[in-house]
Amino acid sequence: MRRPNPDFSENEKILQDPLEQKLHTKARAERPKEYPERFPVPDDKVSWETDYPEYQPPYYVDPKILDKTKAKQGRWDPEDINRVSHPYTSYEGQVRFDSNGRPLNPRGRTGIAGRGNRWLWGPNHAADPIITRFDPHTGVLEMLAIERTDSGEWAIPGGHVEPGEGVSETLKREFKEEAGIELDMEDAIEIYKGYVDDPRNTDNAWMETDVRHKHLPTELASAMEPTAGSDAASAQWLELTPDTIHRLFASHGEFVLKTLKHWLQRDDPNFDPDKRTQLEHLIESLRTSKTKI
Ligand code: BGC
Repeated sequence: MRRPNPDFSENEKILQDPLEQKLHTKARAERPKEYPERFPVPDDKVSWETDYPEYQPPYYVDPKILDKTKAKQGRWDPEDINRVSHPYTSYEGQVRFDSNGRPLNPRGRTGIAGRGNRWLWGPNHAADPIITRFDPHTGVLEMLAIERTDSGEWAIPGGHVEPGEGVSETLKREFKEEAGIELDMEDAIEIYKGYVDDPRNTDNAWMETDVRHKHLPTELASAMEPTAGSDAASAQWLELTPDTIHRLFASHGEFVLKTLKHWLQRDDPNFDPDKRTQLEHLIESLRTSKTKI
């Protein structure tokens, strides 16, 4: 049996697809309602390598972050960048800095400087469990999804990696906290590790995540009743269609697409020809549907 390849550069090669080449658009076009308006960043001015002398992004840090930073001492960064003592470890490689010593978003300009509502300067790490099943009655592919309390969008039930926590632990904890289900994630398949095109990102603070997939046998999955935990408005098995995938929060639609493609490439012994065809159709309709993920 072929094993999933832990070398992500290899995965990236396998998963190359024009549908996945559009990261860093939500981080320029969307924002939480409390953020100031983003300074316009046209496609050809995204890169830090490109001169953009008119670029004057507003500086923003959420007052709630400043209020709580003291209480979260050691876990949340101080506002004064010179007092940050931890290394900046990014899944995207070496972090670069501006002339004020602030870390620079690896995908380029976002139209807002400062930390926004992120706890840390630079990369903020999350982990995202993609849990799938085939519906016991209809046979269609579903993902366990939550409705986010902040944006109201459907999303993968992921969350932030706490200091000292391993990714499998975060996946398990978040899944329990958000969907109310206890699930071992040690054997989940690695799908993606890197930047997230998140509407909360700024020039100096951004989300990165580690996405893992676990498919549950129908009998096991049917016995699991999702219940919304503290961080979610609701939780349910969500049918995966081009429409539901397109509407997912941040880059989550792209992560689902990567998962589907990765799944087709590995030899899953439980995959009958019907299921394979279902997946192929879904990927194909994602590719041809008008709305972009
Ligand atoms: C969410 C994750 C998401 C990450 C990056 C976190 O708040 O819980 O699901 O991938 O942000 O956008």
